[in-house]
Amino acid sequence: MDGNGRWARARGLPRTVGHREGAEALRRVVRASAEFGIDYLTVFGFSSENWKRPPEEVTDLMGLLRLYLRKEIAEIDENGVRLRVIGDRDRLSADIIQLIEDAEERTAGNTRLNLTVALSYGGRAEIVWAAQQLAKAVRAGSLDPEDIDEASFHRHLFTADMPDPDLVIRTSGEKRISNFLLWQSAYAEYVFMDKLWPDFAGEDLKTAIAEFGGRKRRYGAAG
Ligand code: FPP
Repeated sequence: MDGNGRWARARGLPRTVGHREGAEALRRVVRASAEFGIDYLTVFGFSSENWKRPPEEVTDLMGLLRLYLRKEIAEIDENGVRLRVIGDRDRLSADIIQLIEDAEERTAGNTRLNLTVALSYGGRAEIVWAAQQLAKAVRAGSLDPEDIDEASFHRHLFTADMPDPDLVIRTSGEKRISNFLLWQSAYAEYVFMDKLWPDFAGEDLKTAIAEFGGRKRRYGAAG
């Protein structure tokens, strides 16, 4: 969800206003995804590197997250959306962890759309975490190193029970992965769009899906 800061700067507004508009865009995109029949939508809300931002901005983002979890959860639930959070939750404050747990529990039975919010998330950290879990199992004698394969590695990722993404959309004209779903995106199609996240709407999602539809996916095989 990139480009909130630039959206605000272009209007002479504080970055926080950009993030607030970004939260609106998230509402629109969740609604549109459910309408389009998308099964899984994963958004990058806050990276492990974002903790390095000025404390006021971090506080503001956490405030928006609280608001989102408190205010949106009823609509999310009514629309059949299952909400989950991936990332290093231990760095979040206790009240936010509680709100996340409540939201996950409340929506656990919903099946229309799986909305996953990556918070305090880093793709490399996730891979390291999986490696640690496997190493512990080897040390405990319950796993033979030769039995470590892609499937067992996948089972230790935060996304263990989710499919890999087909399409990754990056907004705001940047052409980087920025540590998002590194393992999972091995064969994802990337669509880079110039739109800043606060301007992103259901139509843009449609445009990205149409571009995805025109791609030939070969997964490394001959075309
Ligand atoms: C990146 O834009 C955006 C973020 C770091 C925050 C995304 C948060 C929201 C959309 C609000 C909803 C809240 C959550 C956490 C669900 P940027 O600030 O890097 O923009 P810039 O690159 O233009 O400076």
